[in-house]
This record gives sequence, C-alpha cells and structure tokens, in this order.
Amino acid sequence: MTNEPNQDRRDFLKTSGLLTGSALLGGLPFQTNAATGSPGYHFSVNDTIKVALIGCGGRGTGAAQQALNTKQNVKIVAMADAYRDRLDDSYKALTERGLKAADGSPKVDVPEDHKFVGFDAYKQAIALADVVILATPPGFRPSHFEEAVRQSKQIFMEKPVATDAPGIRRVLAAAEEAKKKKLNVVVGLQRRYQPSYREMIKRIHDGALGDIVGGQVYWVSGGVWQKPRKPNQTEMDYQMRNWYYFNWLCGDHINEQHVHNIDVANWVKDSYPVSCQGTGGRQVRTGKDYGEIFDHHIVDYVYADGTTINSQCRHYEGTYSRVDEMFLGTKGKIEGMEKKSSALMGYNGQPIYTHNAKADGNPYQIEHDELFDAIAKGQYKFADAERVAKSTMTAIMGRMATYSGKVVKWDEALNSQIDLFPTTLAWDAMPKSLPDANGLYAIAVPGKTVTV
Ligand SMILES: NC(=O)c1ccc[n+]([C@@H]2O[C@H](COP(=O)([O-])OP(=O)(O)OC[C@H]3O[C@@H](n4cnc5c(N)ncnc54)[C@H](O)[C@@H]3O)[C@@H](O)[C@H]2O)c1
Repeated sequence: MTNEPNQDRRDFLKTSGLLTGSALLGGLPFQTNAATGSPGYHFSVNDTIKVALIGCGGRGTGAAQQALNTKQNVKIVAMADAYRDRLDDSYKALTERGLKAADGSPKVDVPEDHKFVGFDAYKQAIALADVVILATPPGFRPSHFEEAVRQSKQIFMEKPVATDAPGIRRVLAAAEEAKKKKLNVVVGLQRRYQPSYREMIKRIHDGALGDIVGGQVYWVSGGVWQKPRKPNQTEMDYQMRNWYYFNWLCGDHINEQHVHNIDVANWVKDSYPVSCQGTGGRQVRTGKDYGEIFDHHIVDYVYADGTTINSQCRHYEGTYSRVDEMFLGTKGKIEGMEKKSSALMGYNGQPIYTHNAKADGNPYQIEHDELFDAIAKGQYKFADAERVAKSTMTAIMGRMATYSGKVVKWDEALNSQIDLFPTTLAWDAMPKSLPDANGLYAIAVPGKTVTV
C-alpha cells in the first residue's frame, strides 16, 4: 500500500486545482508533468492539505481548529486578517496545542512571510493554500469567495455570505463558477450538518408531518459585544472594529445570526419565500454606540404555496431567550428543532419520530470532517454556496421589509441596485453611513426608508 491516491482523486485534483504535497509550494501554478510534458502537478508522498485562514477572529480560529481536528493531514500554512493583533491572537490560540503531523512537523506552520495584514491580505493567503477558510465579517464574503473560486480553491466559508443584493448576485455567479470547476464549497450553516436536523427534516420531506402549513423561527437573545471609539480612530477603523453594527459589514442581526433559523425554514419548505413584510426598530439598544442596526425584527415570510413562516429576532439583555424553530404540518408538528430530544408529534399526542441527539457529534466539527474527507478522497460533494446565498437573501429581504415597512417581493429584492459597500476600501476612506455631529447614525424609518 502506498500513499498514492487513486485515479479518481488524481483527476479531481487536476480538475479542481487542488495542489497537494510538498512539491507544490506557495500556490505556484500547476507545474509541467516531467513524464508527459503536459500541464499537471507533481504528486508527493506527503499528502498534506494546506489551509489558509482568512479572517482570524473567533469563528475563523474555531474553524481552523476544526480543520486541524479532522483525520486528514491538514496544515494551516497562511493567515490573513485586516488587523495584526487579531491575527496574532489567533496564531497564539492555534499554536497553543502544539499539534504535530505524523512526520513530527507542526500542523500550524505559518512563517512570518505567510502572515498577511490589511484589506488585500486575503489574495496572498489564498494563493498559498489548497483549501481556504473564509471567516471575515460577511460584507467581504462576495469578493473573498470570488477570489477563492478564481484561484480554484476548495472552500469552507462562514454564513451569511453577503449583506446586500449586489453581493448576493456576485456570490451566485461565483457559485456557478465553483460548480463548473468542481470545487467543494461548504458553508457554516451548521444545522445542515447536524444529525438531528438532518434526520428530522428528511422525515418531514418524506411526509411525516403532512404538508407544512406554518411555522415560527426564532433568534431572541441578549445581543453581542461593542468596542468603544478610541481617540483619533478613523471612521473606517471604528466601523471595522464594530462591524456588527454596520450594514455594509454585517447586514443587521436578522442576517448575521437569524439566517441560521431562516435557512431552516427554507430547508423545511424546500423553497424560498416569494415575499415578506415585517416590523422592527430600536427599542433597547439605542444610542451612538450601536451604529445603524435595529434591535428587533419580526417578519412574515410567504412561500409560493401560500404558507407563512413567522420569523422573530431580537437583542434585548435580560429577557426570554430562544434560538429554535417550530413547524406545523397537516398531520403533526415539531415544537423545538434545537432540543436535545426532539420529536415529530402527531396531533393525537403520539410521537411520529423521536430523535435523541445526546450522542450526536458536534455539527461544527462534522462540517469539516465531511469536507476534508471528500477532499482527501478526491470527491466533489458539496455545493452549498447557492442555497446559502438564497437563504442570506431571504434574511436581507426581511431587513428590507422591516426598514421600509413595505411588502417586499423576492425578485425586486434580489435585483435591488442598492450597494452598501464603500466606494473605496482604505483606512482613511469613508464608509457610506457616517455619524452626525452628535455621533449618531441615520436609522431606517419605516414608511420613509427605501430599501429596494
Ligand atoms: N456558524 C456559526 O455558528 C458562526 C458563529 C460565529 C460567527 N460566525 C460567522 O463568522 C464570521 C466571523 O465572525 P466572528 O464572530 O469570528 O467575528 P470576529 O470579529 O471575531 O472575526 C472576524 C475577523 O475578520 C477580520 N477581518 C475583517 N475584515 C477583514 C478583511 N477584509 N480581510 C481579512 N480579515 C478581515 C477581523 O479583523 C476579525 O479578526 C461572520 O460571518 C459570522 O457571522 C458563524
């Protein structure tokens, strides 16, 4: 038995552009095959899968750990972040465990010249890897995903995948390109990789609850961090450090967090809403420290069959919390998909299917296990980008509805020309949304604000 992969894998690596082995350093273009003279790659006995981490914050560092935890010979070889301090913290966390490959070399092998900082850092880091982890704030996902596809890399990227409709259209176009190139793309909507959701939704699709005629999805919780403004900080730096509160970076919490539950609704319905309307505002989290986002949104999403799924998300400290989904079918219901022991229940009170999730693996780990297993076997198995782009669009459409107070239709939302991204990306450039003399940002006013 040798370390040589089978022919399938060779073909896959060639088609997908996955570079493996120590002979291919630094993301060099395919090298000429010495034996045949044709473009190809040298295959090494050292079957290393090289990973670049783009966006070295909490989730990116976690995702890199999960990549390292897989059974494959994974190495982190490059890191990129807008900020040096974030990159350094992540590098420290990743190297703390002192993980070693079978040959004794470090699994986190990122020399100084493979650490990249700034807005363009991603391009250089992507070039050095076979697989990229894209985990910056979502406003950057369209350009980073496009670049990773352009460079023919295998991809794990975090949700959501954009913050406005122009960004979604870019992700949809790059997703098509990724399919043509047979690049595996896994997106971190981890419920899609969580055994309990998979088992229950498979049965729902098989008709266990009859037709799904209604439901509610929730992310009601306390909210997130905030970083105080520093003296002499540029506006770009302030917004980047406080990305959660600015729509060009985050898309509001209906997009950043609640996309998880909205995606479950789309999964259960096996479609995307045709329209929505909603209400929202800033009730508790007001003031200049909280940028421009709302602290609550309630949206009715209407699907083509007339079903309405109600979505509720809010950030109020010290109140009832629920991050979950429930659905009503013609034969039965599921009251809490997130529970450790969830059941599809008949209206007669008898369980139709009970899933005990206690022994299930961690879905954050499973998504990496499955991705790296497919890569190592030369299989093309994952094309998550299109459906996550559409679930992200569903969340953005909800924001369009709560900000405008109007009914928003899918096609007009998707075709919106409103582009939230700054015209120039530089530390001294100005984002589009700026504070007034009192440090307050303009907040959407339903009935007046135009969103499509
Ligand atoms: N799947 C999940 O359950 C889950 C959980 C948490 C976060 N997330 C997602 O992961 C992403 C990151 O969230 P986080 O909590 O790690 O945030 P974070 O602020 O901890 O990390 C983001 C990192 O990206 C860096 N960054 C910003 N712009 C960049 C750029 N242009 N190029 C390179 N680096 C850049 C930041 O400096 C920071 O280090 C978000 O999309 C978030 O929604 C997903």
